[in-house]
Amino acid sequence: MKQVIAGNWKMNGAPDGVAGYATALRGAAAHTLLIVCPPFPLLPAFAAALAGSGVAVGAQDCHASAAGAHTGDVSAVLLKQIGALYVILGHSERRADHGESNAVVNGKVRAALAAGLVPIVCVGETEQQRDAGEAEDVVRTQLTHSLPAEFTGLVAYEPVWAIGTGRTPSEADVTAMHAAIRAALVAQFPATGATTPILYGGSVKPGNAAALLGLPEVGGALVGGASLNAADFLAIAANAPSV
Ligand code: PGA
Repeated sequence: MKQVIAGNWKMNGAPDGVAGYATALRGAAAHTLLIVCPPFPLLPAFAAALAGSGVAVGAQDCHASAAGAHTGDVSAVLLKQIGALYVILGHSERRADHGESNAVVNGKVRAALAAGLVPIVCVGETEQQRDAGEAEDVVRTQLTHSLPAEFTGLVAYEPVWAIGTGRTPSEADVTAMHAAIRAALVAQFPATGATTPILYGGSVKPGNAAALLGLPEVGGALVGGASLNAADFLAIAANAPSV
């Protein structure tokens, strides 16, 4: 399976940056699957600019309902209609800023699947939880409760303390966590758990991408800050192992 390199633009970007970025990605021979996840208002422009390129577009959140009285929210159904194929769900910034529990994330994952979107479900421990030796238990609990029985898609392991900090876990810690996630997925989803891609996220840069992406059970990267620059994003993808 090709590695997946997904860019999470968070609340960054502007309309005048779409064309140049899309052109850069279009021109790159990618041995990976590239996914760009810009803020909602930029999704239609990206979907148009990347149509037919093989580069996919994803959103950063969706609501658990298909429509209705939910001011300020966006449904998975509408995201699918405007050209998104993927949706990041349960990112730690949403869990923290918007109080999203595992149960809330679970509802969103179900809505995404019902709408035909592929969810990228984020899990990861805080620094305090890692220091207390609870990291794997925390992540296992997030998987158990955030993923519905019908789950298919991707999982992203993002230690909260590594996001936007320039710090990354040791290779041994990433390897151990990805093995724990794989075991949990196989136990929870006997039919699909062995092949669910598990991305690593948290301060992935061109300089550390080769080491991180080469670790066992790392199926790609969820990239925040470094995805805003097309050259950096592509340099990360270029460092992914070929399969
Ligand atoms: P970062 O963010 O690459 O800026 O650390 C990753 C993420 O939050 O998805």
